[in-house]
Amino acid sequence: MGEHKRIGILTSGGDCAGLNAAIRAVVHRAVGTYGWEVLGIRQATQGLMHHPPKVMPLSIDKIDSLLTAGGTVLGTTNEGNPFAFPMPDGTVSDRSSEIIAGYHELGLDAMIGIGGDGSLAILRKIAQQGNLNLVGIPKTIDNDVGITEHSIGCDTAVNIATEAIDRLHFTAASHSRVMILEVMGRDAGHIAISAGIAGGADVILIPEIPYTLDNLCQKLFERQDRGKNYSLIVVSEAVRTDTGETVTRTNRLGQCRLGGIGDYLADRISACTGAETRVIVLGHIQRGGTPSPLDRLVASAFGVAAVDLIADGKYDHMVGWQNRQVVSVPIGEAIAQYRAVDPNGTLVKTARGLGIYLGD
Ligand code: F6P
Repeated sequence: MGEHKRIGILTSGGDCAGLNAAIRAVVHRAVGTYGWEVLGIRQATQGLMHHPPKVMPLSIDKIDSLLTAGGTVLGTTNEGNPFAFPMPDGTVSDRSSEIIAGYHELGLDAMIGIGGDGSLAILRKIAQQGNLNLVGIPKTIDNDVGITEHSIGCDTAVNIATEAIDRLHFTAASHSRVMILEVMGRDAGHIAISAGIAGGADVILIPEIPYTLDNLCQKLFERQDRGKNYSLIVVSEAVRTDTGETVTRTNRLGQCRLGGIGDYLADRISACTGAETRVIVLGHIQRGGTPSPLDRLVASAFGVAAVDLIADGKYDHMVGWQNRQVVSVPIGEAIAQYRAVDPNGTLVKTARGLGIYLGD
């Protein structure tokens, strides 16, 4: 069975469905198989900044309902970069050494960080600075972490967006409207293209492929000419305006968040076609609720494999999914390879083959 270990686990960045399933799998493998101790670290790295660190011991009896629960029982944040941490007096401070001290105070042998590319990059920098033993698990509805085909959360988001499109067909047809569904995904159009194809959208706009308003409207006119009284458009939040700007809103901390391209397009499309147009911004609904079976499966496989990496002493690695297998890759390599939609890939060819307007 090997030597006893105490490991920490944290979730970092935006939440998504499947995080709890991964936590559950880590506890099953670490406690159940290896007889180790698992400490759940609260609120991403912020839990390690506290004295004493904010943790919850995770035993097998604490994880009973986690497989299907949305969110993360550990809490998370995407607002507190430890290298430029916002302080109450308005300044920013480098608090990475406090996190390293927290890790040592807990007597951790290793730590599993569940995060997207931004969080994994930050965790890796801290681990290198403090000589900590880090293993990563990729999660993000954006599915943009390099080298892995799946990151936890994306499949659920695609399911939710697809269901939204399915529902919009009926109301759009009843009112003879153009309906625009704006989905998340940051700079990667994975949610938009997958849900758009699966839901039967007429137009899919993703950040990776430029479009023109003229050609978009042409597609809508063609549908009208064929007797179709409505059209469905899926747009990814980072798609630019036809003059090349990203559309953003500012949150309470003054941080920019993508959002609003749907409204922008609606105005232009109404002006160009005269169609009655409505916008639906799906927002954080894409991150919430019960994980899909695929996300539960991937999260479970990732959790088990991450613990095995620790058992093998294979640190600074991340688990990933390739060709139905769990693999391990250096975190540095994974975060260096941003995973966008391949403009020559299968999904783009499929969408074009179906007659969907996807840009030019
Ligand atoms: O990275 C995940 C994500 O949901 C993006 O798709 C989206 O742009 C962003 O996070 C939203 O962030 P917040 O939760 O801060 O609004």
